[in-house]
This record gives sequence, C-alpha cells and structure tokens, in this order.
Amino acid sequence: MSSESTQGTTTLQDAPVILGHRHLLGLRGWSRPEIAHVLATAREFRDVLSRPIRRVPTLRGVTVVNLFFEASTRTRISFELAEKRLSADTVNFTASGSSVSKGETLKDTARNIEAMKIDVVVIRHASPGAPHFLTRCVDAVVINAGDGAHEHPTQGLLDLLTITDHFPEVRGRRISIIGDITHSRVARSNLYGLTAMGAEVTLCGPPTLIPPGIEGLVESGSVRVTHRLDEALDGCDVAMALRIQLERLGRQLFPSLREYHERFGIRMEHLERYKDLLVMHPGPVNRGVELAGDVVDHERAVILDQVTNGVAVRMAVLFLLSGGTAEA
Ligand code: NCD
Repeated sequence: MSSESTQGTTTLQDAPVILGHRHLLGLRGWSRPEIAHVLATAREFRDVLSRPIRRVPTLRGVTVVNLFFEASTRTRISFELAEKRLSADTVNFTASGSSVSKGETLKDTARNIEAMKIDVVVIRHASPGAPHFLTRCVDAVVINAGDGAHEHPTQGLLDLLTITDHFPEVRGRRISIIGDITHSRVARSNLYGLTAMGAEVTLCGPPTLIPPGIEGLVESGSVRVTHRLDEALDGCDVAMALRIQLERLGRQLFPSLREYHERFGIRMEHLERYKDLLVMHPGPVNRGVELAGDVVDHERAVILDQVTNGVAVRMAVLFLLSGGTAEA
C-alpha cells in the first residue's frame, strides 16, 4: 500500500468505489475477484500490524459506530481495534434491548445514527436481516457483524484469509465444516465464500443440525453433506469445527454433549490419522465438545491465527467500503 492511500485522508464523498457492493451484508453474491481483492488488501494491512507503529491515518475523518445488540467479545474488540488502527473516529453502542421490541429499537437507533452523521455502521443483532433493514433507513455504509443464524461475513473472510495462508489457491481444496450448521451464521458465510473461491465443501454433523437441502443454498460449486466424521475428514485439507450454539438450540437435538464429542468431536486420534489436516474454529470453543482440549492447543490448530487475521480483514473491509483502492 503506497503512502498516498495510507497517509492521505480517505473520505466517503471523494473516494472511488471499487467493489460491486456498498455494504457488507453477507458473502452471498460476492464474486471470487471481489473476495480475492479483500484478502489481498487484508494481507497488506497485516503488514501494517506487524510494524512498530501499528496505526495508519487512512480513515481519519470517517466516523464508525459499533452497534452490538448481542453479546460479543472477540468480534467487537476486533472491529474496534481495526477502526483504531485506521484512525477512524469510533463510537460504541451496546444495546440492552430489554423492554423495547427489536424492530422499534433498531428504527429508533437508525434515526439517531442519521442525526449524528455517522459514515459506517457495524451491526451485530440477534434478528436475521437487521443489517439489511438498516440499509433502508440510513445513508451510512452497513457492515454485518453477525445477524442471528443468517450470516457473519467478516468471519467468513478471515477464515478464507487463514486458509490462503496455508493454501494460496483455494480452488479444489477440500474444506469440511463440522457441527451445528443449522444455527451457524459462520457456516453460511463460509459456505458462500468458500464455494465462490472454488473450494469443495463438506458439511458434517448430526441430521438434526443440518437443514435439509442446504446444498441448494449455493447456485454453483461443490457442496456435499455427511453425517460421519471420518467421511468428512478423509482427504480433507481443513476441518472447520463450529460451536454448538447452546443458546440457540431451544430443544435437545442430540443425546448429550459427551455423545456429540464422541461422534463429531475432533480428537488427537484424528490429527494422528490425518497427518496434514489443519483445524479451525471461529471461537468461542467449548473445549471437550467440538474439539478435544489438546487439539485446541495443537500446532495444526490455527484458531489464534484466525483471531489475528480478523483485525486485518476488518481493516480491509472498512477501508474498501469507505471507498479505498488497494494499490492506490
Ligand atoms: C461466532 C458468532 O458469534 O457467530 N463467533 C465469533 O464471531 N467469533 C461463532 C459462535 O458464536 O459460535
């Protein structure tokens, strides 16, 4: 990244728009070149993060609000850090959302955003579609930081960045997503992102946690479903384990966490059998459920690299949607 883009001031008004999207609502509909462009930009920002001074004035003058209506630790901190590293002005809004209904809260909040002349809204909300609703109420750029069980696009992008660190060409790579697919926004964003990049995706979990016909979600690309962990891991390059979303289950969809671990948990025996397998997890991990504790700490588990990559990817998304050009 040259001095002009990193040291100049990028404003929403005068910067050219280079992506075919004004907002990041989900990875559905994002093309391979668009995703590759975000990843390339993220790699450049990652270099910035390894310098002694990890701050660039790229988004000076741009105001970002982080609207978190749902509990979050790493995603919220990651966005805040990305904004600070880019010198944006940031405001945090953590809604309690108790007595007011969600629709009303969001509409009221949107009115306030309009009144405060905010440029970018990062929103996490328990209701699928909340970020899309916001785009109809405000002029600001909207970034989805997770909407219910729908999408979590920056997680999908940071997962892709982590995969490309090990496999620069994702096309033809075999990635298995294992766990609670039904309730996972991470699974959906990865499904769109990975297939757009040409990966072969296998979804694995108990039948009660995989929606029937999920293969049909993607228009093209290779997606298969299995209910056997060995089938998912055999010949697989990356196993992405997902958290059992206990707060979203509502009813018992498998006998017990212990039995889940026995049938779908990744254990040391799997790392020994599948010698090149990389293990990912978006966090937070239920140790001993999706992954055995020693797998979490194993060198082939790249969970902390995912966290590091999260900041760089969010910097790239904020920069590009604020009108930046990667090699300007
Ligand atoms: C994920 C989320 O919130 O959707 N976590 C995250 O963003 N780091 C996955 C999860 O909660 O299991």
